[in-house]
Amino acid sequence: MAIPPLLLIGCGRMGTALLRGWDAQGLSQSVVVDPGAAEVPAPHLWVKDASLVAASFKPEIVILAVKPQAVDAILPSVVPFARDAVVLSIMAGRSISGLASALGPAAAIVRAMPNTPAAIGRGITVACAGPDVRASQRELCERLLAAVGATAWVEDEALLDPVTALSGSGPAYVFLLAELLEAAGIEQGLPPPLARQLARLTVSGAGALLDAAPHEDAASLRRAVTSPGGTTASALDILMGPSAWPASIPAAIEAATQRSRVLAR
Ligand SMILES: NC(=O)c1ccc[n+]([C@@H]2O[C@H](COP(=O)([O-])OP(=O)(O)OC[C@H]3O[C@@H](n4cnc5c(N)ncnc54)[C@H](OP(=O)(O)O)[C@@H]3O)[C@@H](O)[C@H]2O)c1
Repeated sequence: MAIPPLLLIGCGRMGTALLRGWDAQGLSQSVVVDPGAAEVPAPHLWVKDASLVAASFKPEIVILAVKPQAVDAILPSVVPFARDAVVLSIMAGRSISGLASALGPAAAIVRAMPNTPAAIGRGITVACAGPDVRASQRELCERLLAAVGATAWVEDEALLDPVTALSGSGPAYVFLLAELLEAAGIEQGLPPPLARQLARLTVSGAGALLDAAPHEDAASLRRAVTSPGGTTASALDILMGPSAWPASIPAAIEAATQRSRVLAR
């Protein structure tokens, strides 16, 4: 069954990734709003500004995929569409109640936090439905989010702060690991192209192994690579030292969670 027409506002990195996933699932002709000359695939219509969307267009869902600081200027143009459609926001730090104050208290709003692996259908999105979202609207949101990866729902919107810190920002932490492994390999004398290849394929290969063993703990996969007194153990003695990763990773997630709370409105 085709995905019903939608209004996508913002077609940058996340908007493009989502649109690609939906097109692969058979998205009906939709309207994309973005001021840049975004590459909007046929049969969708592209307009530069939300105020230019034809009033006769009746989307079942409006997706807010602009930067949070850009949305206030856009929301007045969304109000007429939000009367009949569910509004799915993927913006960091914009609360359901904050959006409802601009869209109308009865607006049906779902807030979701995806991550960039959505671009290759390997994202994880956590969503929270506002009080006026009907079951059919929630199902439609679930269908759209599931087109770009795994999904989970929470009842408590406050949980989206640690979700943002863990999975929303998380790909950056993994890329940092790849960067640091590459640099450390070069420092130990490896030719740079080989260090780069080893770092990238180790990170992606270990991720694939985790993915292939959903019922196995990450800790047991780690132990399987670690023989007592061996090379892995000598590296882990440093990484697992009391002031190393066991302290810095919780501190980093705490800092990102706090930042998400501070930015929220
Ligand atoms: N990237 C992530 O990892 C990630 C993860 C989870 C959630 N998010 C959320 O996703 C949202 C989009 O992030 P992104 O990374 O996709 O940002 P992005 O690449 O900058 O995309 C935003 C798009 O919105 C466009 N835009 C600006 N003003 C607009 C307007 N008035 N009407 C319509 N479109 C407008 C921008 O065009 P111009 O470039 O021409 O200004 C850009 O193409 C953010 O709210 C972010 O919090 C992102």
